[in-house]
Amino acid sequence: MARSLAALPKAELHIHVEGTLEPDLAFEIAQRNGISLPYDSPDALRAAYDFVDLQSFLDVYFIAGGALLTLADFSDLALAYLERAHQDAVAHVELFFDPQAHVSRGVPLSDIVGGLSEALAEAHTRWGMSGSLIACFLRDRPAAEAMAVLDDLIALNSPDLVGVGLDSTEVGYPPALFRDVFARAADAGLHRVSHAGEEAPHTYITEALEALGVERVDHGVRAIDSPELVQRLAREGIALTMCPLSNKRLQVTPDLKDHPLLVLVEQGVKVTINSDDPSYFGGYIADNYEVVREVLGLTDEQAADFARTSIEVSFASPSRKAELH
Ligand code: ADE
Ligand code: ZN
Repeated sequence: MARSLAALPKAELHIHVEGTLEPDLAFEIAQRNGISLPYDSPDALRAAYDFVDLQSFLDVYFIAGGALLTLADFSDLALAYLERAHQDAVAHVELFFDPQAHVSRGVPLSDIVGGLSEALAEAHTRWGMSGSLIACFLRDRPAAEAMAVLDDLIALNSPDLVGVGLDSTEVGYPPALFRDVFARAADAGLHRVSHAGEEAPHTYITEALEALGVERVDHGVRAIDSPELVQRLAREGIALTMCPLSNKRLQVTPDLKDHPLLVLVEQGVKVTINSDDPSYFGGYIADNYEVVREVLGLTDEQAADFARTSIEVSFASPSRKAELH
């Protein structure tokens, strides 16, 4: 069964490239850059993965991501993930990255985007995989900083950059803070997504729809608390990119029996299954499908529906979608 879930052609739409950094690679990259990580070994880094909430995870995620400095680092990181994703039959990927986490350490934006693009091109050559980039702004940093990074991203004019998102510490940083940033992104022809309703209440999801004009919501777990919002998501065809293993590890849904994803699908919401930060949460995309099968009784037919939905709600071109359906 696990093999057949892995073999379903699917899109991964909620994947932070920094969250795919495995401890061994973090140490290898840190060493070649002369950076010392505040852990003695890859095992010691792994031992720090005892997360109790989103913030306790983010603290480790940003420390490990501090190993990344050069274009080659971003390329190696992304290619390692894309190779692993290919094993799970990921045919299309939209890679999230956090530009502010790196430009704030002096890494040129063009090296970040250049390295990620290099890996996407290599994955296309090797496996025929399609992919693109979504730059996520850190919501606990000032909106003016996000706006400046957006201007720089637009100036780079990368054909791989298809959208913007919003991530990092959620509670206390509502979507409307980034209204103008997302309006500018829309003017520049970029797609818009946002993390919402992971730790914060369903009102953040509604605010992301109204203030940011998002086309998909990342996580959106708390939508289940508002019947009106669930109806609206279904009516407007707004997809949720959900990540069960992440939600378990960060105590969003400590018992996966309570995860709302199948109930939301029954109510007509488009839902996809993704891995978020697989290096940290104990599983890549097929493992996320597998845990839903084990805990919630996902049938083969439902699994195939999730995979089809992932392609449908992706930002792939119509011709690519037609190829994958
Ligand atoms: N950055 C990386 N993973 C994240 C998550 N699950 N929520 C918010 N920000 C993130
Ligand atoms: Zn995420």
